[in-house]
Amino acid sequence: MKPLSIFTTLLTLATSSPTSRQTSKAPFFLLAGDSTTAVGGGWGDGFLNHTLLPPASGLNYGHSGATTASFRAGGDWATVLSQITTHQAESNVYVTIQFGHNDQKAAANISIDQFKENLGAFVDEVRSLGGTPILITSLTRRVFSGSPPLIVQSLANERAATISVAEAKNAKLIDLNIASEDYCNAIGPEASWRYNLFNATRQGDTTHLNEWGGIVFGRLVSDLLVGGFGEEFGKWTVANETLSALLREGVPA
Ligand SMILES: *[C@@H]1O[C@H](CO)[C@@H](O)[C@H](O)[C@H]1NC(C)=O
Ligand SMILES: *[C@@H]1O[C@H](CO)[C@@H](O)[C@H](O)[C@H]1NC(C)=O
Ligand SMILES: *[C@@H]1O[C@H](CO)[C@@H](O)[C@H](O)[C@H]1NC(C)=O
Ligand SMILES: *[C@@H]1O[C@H](CO)[C@@H](O)[C@H](O)[C@H]1NC(C)=O
Repeated sequence: MKPLSIFTTLLTLATSSPTSRQTSKAPFFLLAGDSTTAVGGGWGDGFLNHTLLPPASGLNYGHSGATTASFRAGGDWATVLSQITTHQAESNVYVTIQFGHNDQKAAANISIDQFKENLGAFVDEVRSLGGTPILITSLTRRVFSGSPPLIVQSLANERAATISVAEAKNAKLIDLNIASEDYCNAIGPEASWRYNLFNATRQGDTTHLNEWGGIVFGRLVSDLLVGGFGEEFGKWTVANETLSALLREGVPA
């Protein structure tokens, strides 16, 4: 018994020391996703620019039109992986993974099972390089229907698939799909227009975000991260309690 308990103690020491070193390092976020994460239409820059306390920072690799397949085939994923290695010494590297909007299009020819497999491979590859994957369910489209008007749940299958991958892989997950849907349902279709790209002319794009939309939904991402994993992210976050309260209470920002 005795040697076993000493061995157990040594194991505990060996694993606890790198862990405590890690939490003292600032996070570096690599954002993988489609246009709803990307510069000029997504939440990524709003999150990176407006919620992180330096030296916490990151890079936005969101790619307009990307699916879980094209993101790899086009080389974006390889770039993300190489950035894990680049930033690992000085940071705790996290890779957010948010897809679904384009994977679900018939032309993409990606089944839900293939979507799950692709997400699972992203998770495994991030971990194999020492990074931490964070799966994110797809930002809601701001399309309403019915009376009273409610968000059309057009990404429910992709949401469920993303959640099941997180469970199977025991990976971090934030449910942006439901959080953004709940918020838009609370504020309604008229106020939801504020966040749409081309809102001034109402061009009909209710998927992509304008700059203010990026800041608002970037804050929502931050609130979900801090809410779910406060020990890791709380002290690296610049709070905006005014905006967070509006998001929590379902009041237009
Ligand atoms: C974020 O910062 C980049 C680089 O400074 C800038 O180009 C971009 O417009 C900013 N975006 C937002 C939403 O603040
Ligand atoms: C769709 O994907 C399946 C499975 O990969 C493949 O067998 C099929 O040929 C593809 N269909 C089209 C139209 O590309
Ligand atoms: C468009 O969005 C901006 C920023 O959210 C807002 O100031 C403006 O009032 C909006 N315009 C319309 C017509 O909704
Ligand atoms: C915090 O959020 C409020 C309400 O949305 C906004 O008006 C304000 O500019 C934000 N403050 C900072 C420092 O970003």
